[in-house]
Amino acid sequence: MKDKVVMIVGATGGIGKALTEKLASQGAKLVLASQNSDRLNHLSSQISDTDHIAVPTDITDPEQVQILMEKAVAEYGQLDALVNAAGAGILKQFNKIEPSDLDKMLDLNLKGSFYTCQAAINIMKDRKIGHICNVVGILGKHSMAMASAYCASKFGVVGFSKCMADEVKRYGIKFTLFYLGGIDSPFWDHAGLKVDRTKMLSPNTAAKAIVYALESDPQTVPMEINIQPESHLFF
Ligand SMILES: NC(=O)c1ccc[n+]([C@@H]2O[C@H](COP(=O)([O-])OP(=O)(O)OC[C@H]3O[C@@H](n4cnc5c(N)ncnc54)[C@H](OP(=O)(O)O)[C@@H]3O)[C@@H](O)[C@H]2O)c1
Repeated sequence: MKDKVVMIVGATGGIGKALTEKLASQGAKLVLASQNSDRLNHLSSQISDTDHIAVPTDITDPEQVQILMEKAVAEYGQLDALVNAAGAGILKQFNKIEPSDLDKMLDLNLKGSFYTCQAAINIMKDRKIGHICNVVGILGKHSMAMASAYCASKFGVVGFSKCMADEVKRYGIKFTLFYLGGIDSPFWDHAGLKVDRTKMLSPNTAAKAIVYALESDPQTVPMEINIQPESHLFF
């Protein structure tokens, strides 16, 4: 991954931070984005030896996403890969879901990653090279009680990703969708559901899978990667 320019959206999260540390150790050039500037500055200070920029960005706002892309291009002139690892979960009974809950799931998980993919492709297509990794989660292809709003957003991510992948394969841009099971990260501090985090995957497992996809040979496309904890298998 040496000298590859990789944008990590949601860099301060459990998965994003593990990936940031791994790619920093491999000499990648990083564009780090997330919403909370204190957390982002802290992460930035932890990898001060790595060539990187950190850009506070609320991905629910397409104008901020555009500014993020412009800063990446101004700094590095190109973008080899985008990893979408920003998101949140609201997990409760369907009839307890408020309109504001549904808005949050769709604005952040679905529309936010739509905007970042759209804007990244516009940068990548002139070079005819690029890789987009969307950390969807297994609830982008399987249902679960209490996850109606979350699944609506994640099934949507799968839908738009497959359409975009079809449109941009002629530009040499590939998509990888990650169907990961439960990962022990701060995600579960806010999801509103009691879960046994001891049986979950680690953020490091997710980061390794993403690096595996990013390192794949240019002529291969790892279209989907599905990793579940032993205790909780979806087929
Ligand atoms: N944890 C799991 O079990 C699991 C399993 C499968 C898939 N996933 C998916 O993987 C992704 C990352 O999950 P995680 O476990 O790493 O969650 P996490 O630890 O809660 O991290 C979430 C990340 O999203 C960022 N974020 C939140 N709102 C944002 C916004 N409006 N604009 C930009 N960034 C924003 C957060 O940044 P701030 O610090 O700035 O808020 C943080 O960096 C999510 O899409 C999640 O749905 C998670």
